[in-house]
Amino acid sequence: MSLIDLHCHILPGVDDGAADLSTALELAKAAVDQGVGHILLTPHHMDRQYLNHKQELLNKVARFQTCIDEAQIPLTVFCGQEVHINGELIHAIETDDVLFMDEANRYLLLELPHSDIPTYASNLIFELVSRQIIPVIAHPERNVIIQKNPEKLYELVSQGCLTQITAGSYLGIFGQEVERLTGKIIQANLGTVFSSDAHNFQGRRFLMKDAFDKLNQEYPEKTEVFKQNAKDIINGENVGPVNFKQIKEMTKKKFWLF
Ligand SMILES: [Fe+2]
Repeated sequence: MSLIDLHCHILPGVDDGAADLSTALELAKAAVDQGVGHILLTPHHMDRQYLNHKQELLNKVARFQTCIDEAQIPLTVFCGQEVHINGELIHAIETDDVLFMDEANRYLLLELPHSDIPTYASNLIFELVSRQIIPVIAHPERNVIIQKNPEKLYELVSQGCLTQITAGSYLGIFGQEVERLTGKIIQANLGTVFSSDAHNFQGRRFLMKDAFDKLNQEYPEKTEVFKQNAKDIINGENVGPVNFKQIKEMTKKKFWLF
């Protein structure tokens, strides 16, 4: 089974990812080289810098797929957004300006600020979950509050969130501390899927095969689970239940002290 990437910024000219079509096509080839067959394109949305409205993105992604096909790159792309947490989110959902990770509008890729978890986050997540929307927290391992206090991630998962771990985090692209925390998150069963969050060829690149190779060495039992979870999310199917009992046991053992 080829890999499914659920977080990626290679749609050309829409955010801080690929600047133009030729770069985007080179990145698409790099994705295929990393074993990726399907990508959910997730331009930044509502993060105070980028507003990428739903209908515009749908048109751009359709055009990009045509270019991918013309270049004979064996890759299928879907249209999503990386939605920054914000007070207008419910309004944006109600006015149909949010793209989910699946066509059934069940899973939402939700980005937290880099250095904060807003005080309203808990209420907002409750509101989303009460609407049968499951937030998938983008790269929690890169959030400074979670880095200082990983139990915060347990709270988010307890509220009903899933998590998207960035492949490069697990490989040390963001430093040893993030790499170590990422491993702990996976070990604690608080990780749901790997995605690339690919932007370019330098720092934030695909690395999906490399991350799965490492996962297969360290936690072989999770390799198929991560792949299946990605498939279930993009298909709008149920993702396997979170084992809270097992997570609690681990946190009781002061699991996070490292
Ligand atoms: Fe991203």
